[in-house]
Amino acid sequence: MALKPLGIEMRRTHDFANHEQFLPFQQTISDASKAGISVGDYIDITYNTQGATQETIDRLDQLGVFSDVRAVAEIGPGSGRYLEKVIRKCSPDRYEIYETARPWARYLKEQHHVILHPTDGYSMRSTDTSSVDLAQAHKVFVATPFLTTCHYWEEMIRVVRPGGHVVFDILTEQCLDPSTLRLWLDKAATRSGYPCIMPRHFALGFFSDRGIQLIDSFSIPMRPGRTEVFVFMKKQSQGPVSMDVGAE
Ligand SMILES: C[S@@+](CC[C@H](N)C(=O)[O-])C[C@H]1O[C@@H](n2cnc3c(N)ncnc32)[C@H](O)[C@@H]1O
Repeated sequence: MALKPLGIEMRRTHDFANHEQFLPFQQTISDASKAGISVGDYIDITYNTQGATQETIDRLDQLGVFSDVRAVAEIGPGSGRYLEKVIRKCSPDRYEIYETARPWARYLKEQHHVILHPTDGYSMRSTDTSSVDLAQAHKVFVATPFLTTCHYWEEMIRVVRPGGHVVFDILTEQCLDPSTLRLWLDKAATRSGYPCIMPRHFALGFFSDRGIQLIDSFSIPMRPGRTEVFVFMKKQSQGPVSMDVGAE
């Protein structure tokens, strides 16, 4: 590098404002290794709340999300902190991911042998219709713009099989009581687009309009506040309707 003789070292820095790039890859892996803990635990402790990922998995388990799961599709798995727990829980035959941060996507492919699909940032076009038992995204729709989120929701509904689950979390008005809003105002970069709010009422209407049933919702930590996790189920398609033509 021509500037080196002048004593200036050029280092590629991470752009935290770009939500499609996630955390700096090498630095995060190395910091987790120095701390002697898994990358997932390191991210929980450093950027969120210790045990928050496991708490989510446990709640989903109680709701029956992981029973009979052979195929999963996940949007924005990042370091794979949810992915690794889901794989451990239900050993799916197929785990497909859509991830915009290339170093993390390649890492997950190598570590967990997942199927990494081309990622255009709003569709799941490589996943067949009604082909997965679980479509999920964690801490993704708190950063994606409104229409991106809506596109992804349509796709999650498309790819999940009847009887399968759609799971994600969003920052709803229920997560924004005055004291929590104060924390966001004090801690977040006020002029950035993060976090993105998604009205709860709109989200519920979006899924019910498409015949998708709400199973439950619950809140989990996302520093400095909380997000609301939604669990939906695509209704089993109805069997053939028996026509009672009546006796003559
Ligand atoms: C806040 S991180 C959450 C990562 C992981 N799900 C977790 O909870 O640890 C958001 C993740 O979504 C990815 N991402 C952002 N925008 C995306 C998009 N439009 N399509 C797919 N992935 C996206 C980022 O690269 C990052 O890995």
